[in-house]
Amino acid sequence: MDKAKRKAIIAGNWKMNKTPSEAKALLSEIAPLVRDADCEIIACVPYVDLAAALEATAGTNIKIGAENCHWAESGAFTGEISTGMLREIGAEYVVLGHSERRQYFGETDETVNKRTKAALAAGLKPIVCVGELLWERECNITEEVIARQIKLDLWRVSEEELKNVVIAYEPVWAIGTGKTATADQAEEVCAFIRAQLVKLYNQSAADAVTIQYGGSMNDGNADELLSKTNVDGGLIGGASLVATKFAAIVKAASK
Ligand code: PGA
Repeated sequence: MDKAKRKAIIAGNWKMNKTPSEAKALLSEIAPLVRDADCEIIACVPYVDLAAALEATAGTNIKIGAENCHWAESGAFTGEISTGMLREIGAEYVVLGHSERRQYFGETDETVNKRTKAALAAGLKPIVCVGELLWERECNITEEVIARQIKLDLWRVSEEELKNVVIAYEPVWAIGTGKTATADQAEEVCAFIRAQLVKLYNQSAADAVTIQYGGSMNDGNADELLSKTNVDGGLIGGASLVATKFAAIVKAASK
């Protein structure tokens, strides 16, 4: 399948930024700038911003996602949010396994897998994040790390369910550091991810999956990164908080 047939997806990952009123203001600024985009646009926002974000984007081409979810339907999990809660409020996507969750909150491939399966079962579309640490890249084990994450994070995810999965390749050393992977480095790992999907599923299932690059993607480097065959979109942190920058990345993905 050629790249043009895959869905290009630009997703903002707002992390722990913006209050509900600030979220509303930012989305109202972004919406007119991306109205004519020829790609899917998502803003993944803090839980408490979801209602305001959905209200601000009603009738626009911007979809809303959350930044995590728990795997249980309900229960004694203080501070957690279930897939049913996200569905009812109207979220469509959910970021899972972000390296900040893995680094600071003890997220493992096992819990990423549980969350992924629960999200899919609830009808949410997970954006599953994978990526190597700088040290792992220096030790030349990037491919082993990525292969392991893909295999474990997608364990028992069916071929049918895979259609609703987005994968984000985010080298940990490039996140929030201003150090972007070169377009060739991004392409190399995104192509490797697709090859792993061929092994785990089959060629046509793998060809249909949108694979994003994330890690200091911005209005200056998006064009080159997105021109690569296996880079189908971006997961954008810092630059998603500035309307003009985010819109410029959306424009680059619309070409
Ligand atoms: P960044 O974050 O664009 O600020 O590097 C990307 C991410 O963490 O998803």
